[in-house]
Amino acid sequence: MTYPGFQIMRRLTYFIPAALLVLLASGCQPAASSSNEIVIGHFGSMTGSEATFGQSTDNGIKLAVDEINEAGGIDGKKVRLITYDDKGDAREAGTAVTRLTTKDGVAAVLGEVASGLSLAGAPVCQESGIPMISPSSTNPKVTEIGDMIFRVCFIDPFQGSVCAKFAREHEGLKAGKAAILTDQASPYSVGLQEEFEKAFEKLGGKVVSKQTYQGGDQDFSAQLTAIRSSEPDIIFVPGYYTDVGNVALQARKLGLATPMLGGDGWDSSKLGEIAGGAIDGCFYSNHYSHEDPNPRVQEFIKKYSERHQQTPDGLAALGYDAARILFEAIRRAKSTEGKTLAAELAKTKDFDGVTGKISIDGDRNAIKSAVILEMKDGKPKYVTTIQPGA
Ligand code: PHE
Repeated sequence: MTYPGFQIMRRLTYFIPAALLVLLASGCQPAASSSNEIVIGHFGSMTGSEATFGQSTDNGIKLAVDEINEAGGIDGKKVRLITYDDKGDAREAGTAVTRLTTKDGVAAVLGEVASGLSLAGAPVCQESGIPMISPSSTNPKVTEIGDMIFRVCFIDPFQGSVCAKFAREHEGLKAGKAAILTDQASPYSVGLQEEFEKAFEKLGGKVVSKQTYQGGDQDFSAQLTAIRSSEPDIIFVPGYYTDVGNVALQARKLGLATPMLGGDGWDSSKLGEIAGGAIDGCFYSNHYSHEDPNPRVQEFIKKYSERHQQTPDGLAALGYDAARILFEAIRRAKSTEGKTLAAELAKTKDFDGVTGKISIDGDRNAIKSAVILEMKDGKPKYVTTIQPGA
């Protein structure tokens, strides 16, 4: 009874379980860095109420990856990006970074946007000796985690003072009294609120009402009513775009027409979509303006919008800059070994980024200017640039 079909069947019954075992043993993971490729990781909120943060950052990183690969890679090695969605959740962020560093064999990790999530991922990178670059987390504590943790954006002591100075000095605002509405569950919001308050009072302003909420809250009427009776000239709302949009809608419904001011957390095309006209005439500080005439910026916008059919926001620009700074450091280091790579990242100086000239300082932060944007017809319009130390 040995006809050929049976022979093949018999071989297959041995072969299939063996192949399955091999797959299982490898955890079904894509092969870790083989000698002809460099694997990098990204963890970000691809879904959830801050979904545009992760999506824009990923789009910016992907553009940088495609460009370097089209140009032949880094010393002949192609770059491969692995992205995990952390859903805007701290526990998911920790798990994603653990997977990138222990299973996927990444040379470095890019992410997160939200400071609270970078604070969850950074200790994992620090312990495993794999460099992490946050494109956009501005809370000072992120890089204080250790010498493996970098960022390519400014930090909130600067951003808070930029907002305070603008509130006090901008023609048409000249705010004397500020109310503040803080997301008490967000390290970003709490930190930026403190910095704004300090700077605003130092410049002679007075904080007349301090209210809090929790990210995801739907009803802000109690806080907004209290704010209304404190008669502020400005309402500082250092939150993320979905909450800010809802706050603006409800404020206007309560007849509270006071202009609002916030930080980079407002930066999303969704802000105008959620709030519509309710957010017009409000201001926020940011890392980049798509109206910047600098050819470097306009060239990036052209390439990005051809590929992604939308105008890049600040996160796309920062993701692109972070990836390119990483590639440059790998090239200079001629190695993807963690300590060697971190040492090269630390030497980054005058990198000509889309978000400005980037130099990494001794605390692994970047010192850069900020822009103020005003919402008009649901879109951010450039108002002014504020230099560090101004
Ligand atoms: N700076 C914010 C944070 O640290 C994140 C952010 C950056 C959001 C830039 C939008 C644009 O949490």
